[in-house]
Amino acid sequence: MKLERMDKILAARTEYSRKDAKKLVWQGRVRHNGKIATSPDAKVDLQADTLELDGKSLQIQEHLYLMLNKPAGVLSAARDPKQPTVLDLVPEKYRRSGLFPAGRLDKDTEGFVLITDDGDFAHRILSPKQHVEKTYHARIDGPVTDQMRAGFAEGVELEDGTRCRPAQLQLLEEGEQPLCRVVLTQGMYHQVKRMFLSYGRRVTWLKRVAMGGLALDETLAPGEAREISEIELKLLLAKI
Ligand code: URA
Repeated sequence: MKLERMDKILAARTEYSRKDAKKLVWQGRVRHNGKIATSPDAKVDLQADTLELDGKSLQIQEHLYLMLNKPAGVLSAARDPKQPTVLDLVPEKYRRSGLFPAGRLDKDTEGFVLITDDGDFAHRILSPKQHVEKTYHARIDGPVTDQMRAGFAEGVELEDGTRCRPAQLQLLEEGEQPLCRVVLTQGMYHQVKRMFLSYGRRVTWLKRVAMGGLALDETLAPGEAREISEIELKLLLAKI
């Protein structure tokens, strides 16, 4: 249980000041667990209670964790003066200060981006020491060879001499542009593209389909986001 004063939560989760938040309660515009609230200093359980303002539910939990299906063409940065970012795609009801994307996908990469305001959690997901797996689907411009499979399993040496951690490479679909599944436990800049480039292959399409044991919800259309449940959060950190 984590208790906070109602006016404090209202001020933190809406545009209203603390003073105006008190007025909202006195005006009968706030519902606490479904009932009209009467006192702004009432204690609200951030983990279990619900608050509504003018009939719209507020996201009151301490931290928010969102799964976004990033479309190509959007930056994985917090804000950019010229280009759309993943934070611009966060639906109004989830907007709050402190949100950021935990880890980056290239502008042309699609798929799973975790957006949160929980720095500690993001650190656990991203820290190379935690070995949280990131799974990608990639189309490349030539065949997958035995040499590539062995190289990925051993640890690819990139063009600048950096040695990558062992990674999984699996052919999912043959063809002119074969579809591969790649699983990494680290996240270096352009890593998947550079790993394939070490074997003379260009990545023509790339999508992150899972983080840890949590797969991207395929019902999310590109650009859509939804909250990650508590059970799913545990899956995110799970080793697979
Ligand atoms: N590897 C890449 O090359 N690009 C990404 O966006 C993610 C992993």
